[in-house]
Amino acid sequence: MSFIEIHKVDKSFGKKRVISNLSLWVEKNELLGILGPSGCGKTTLLRLIAGFEVPDRGEIRIDGDCVYSSSNGIFVPPEKRNIGMVFQDLALWPHMTVREHIDFVLGSRNIKSKEKIEEILELVDLKSLSESYPEQLSGGEKQRVAIARALAQEPRVLLLDEPLSNLDQILRKDFKGEITKLRKKFGITTIYVTHNYLELIDIADKIAIMRKGRIIQFGRSKEVYQSPKNNFVRNILGK
Ligand SMILES: Nc1ncnc2c1ncn2[C@@H]1O[C@H](COP(=O)(O)OP(=O)(O)O)[C@@H](O)[C@H]1O
Ligand SMILES: [Mg+2]
Repeated sequence: MSFIEIHKVDKSFGKKRVISNLSLWVEKNELLGILGPSGCGKTTLLRLIAGFEVPDRGEIRIDGDCVYSSSNGIFVPPEKRNIGMVFQDLALWPHMTVREHIDFVLGSRNIKSKEKIEEILELVDLKSLSESYPEQLSGGEKQRVAIARALAQEPRVLLLDEPLSNLDQILRKDFKGEITKLRKKFGITTIYVTHNYLELIDIADKIAIMRKGRIIQFGRSKEVYQSPKNNFVRNILGK
């Protein structure tokens, strides 16, 4: 049994099929990279896993718990799945400081959660900016707030939706180190979605190539990179 199991999931919006008979699995503490062009359904897939969208068919399991099953009529809402998601547009709250973003997620005001806030601020290097509002932060700093917020609840799973799309090249390099550091510290099962294969090099354990709502190749990063199945995969791997 894998930590995340997605089994034969379909999702349409109106008449448009966006996810087609899609199956994928992720082992505990692994990082799965999902690589596919814009519009292929990457964000929709993450939203289905997090519970922000309801599939039409199939099954999704996390750590042995069924969170969605069409045949058994199961749907667990997002707040009960304990999944941390970093959205493509980051979705920070303009009226809240950095500290308040984390505070809001932790929800309680006891000493333990105060310590936790300090620990997380330290970890993502935002201590000196804890009283700043999003509009006062750079792209990289906003990014770190979004990640800190996602990690604050100690989620079972971390979903990253094109996390680098708002960053410049230099910060992109730092981000890999950051993600590796955080994952070492938290040991968290992660799905990282992008259209740029460069972002996945050195950090993804496995890669799934997605096209028009389907997975067309899935395997260890090295294997996928060394033996792309067809021209589409070769292209998206920059070969
Ligand atoms: N809520 C929605 N209603 C209708 N169509 C949607 C909705 N969300 C996504 N889509 C469509 O589904 C397709 C896949 O979108 P998306 O999952 O955002 O792709 P990606 O993240 O890979 O760019 C697109 O054609 C998009 O327009
Ligand atoms: Mg997207």
